Amino acid sequence: MRRKLAAGNWKMNGTSAALAELEALSAAPADANTDILICPPATLITRAAQVVSDTSVYIGGQDCHAATSGAHTGDIAADMLIDAGASHVILGHSERREDHGERNEDVRTKAQTAWDSGLVTVICVGETLSEREADNTLDIIGGQLAGSIPDAATGENLVVAYEPVWAIGTGKVPTLAQIGDVHDFIRMRLERRFGEGVGRTVPVLYGGSVKPTNATEIFSVSNVDGALVGGASLKAADFQPIIDALAAS
Ligand code: PGA
Repeated sequence: MRRKLAAGNWKMNGTSAALAELEALSAAPADANTDILICPPATLITRAAQVVSDTSVYIGGQDCHAATSGAHTGDIAADMLIDAGASHVILGHSERREDHGERNEDVRTKAQTAWDSGLVTVICVGETLSEREADNTLDIIGGQLAGSIPDAATGENLVVAYEPVWAIGTGKVPTLAQIGDVHDFIRMRLERRFGEGVGRTVPVLYGGSVKPTNATEIFSVSNVDGALVGGASLKAADFQPIIDALAAS
């Protein structure tokens, strides 16, 4: 059985005061099959990891560099994330692809470095609105999966997040049928490339305007194993009902 994952991506939001939200989340009773991951800004990782120690909440980074160390001003190495208390890292988020020109091959190199350090990678894929309107969604997703995921994927080191770019932060959500089509396609591609054992074990998350009000229906879609949540992960009062909906799914 695949584990479920409720992942929060705080993006460039949160100073010390935000740790209170994490305290509230980690105080809630845990569900044995549902993992919780919060990816705060890098400045909060060490303190966030202290807040969740002795709980079942994981802490992750939002990016790491492809190199293990060196002259890369402003960047963070995978080992540094581990050292700070992170267990996961988001890679290839569409905002990184857009703001920093990250290509599939960059994501793939970063992912291998992250795996070598022992991080679990949440690798993001997703089409733009024009790609969807041109009926290219599955081609784009297929190319991103093939190009962004290294060969050494296992059921333990990889999580895939399907995030349609046009649904992120917009309040627009694909239909359940559209989500299902892409998730089934991702599952098929993972099984074909990595074998059924690995392909069936990798959790596939949906992301893009997930809210307490739509979480239950999204989690009812086959091959949706959780969510990558931006805006609604910033407040425990919003994220907790999403976690609860996933646990109940
Ligand atoms: P959103 O962001 O939930 O605010 O749409 C999702 C994401 O970018 O991971």
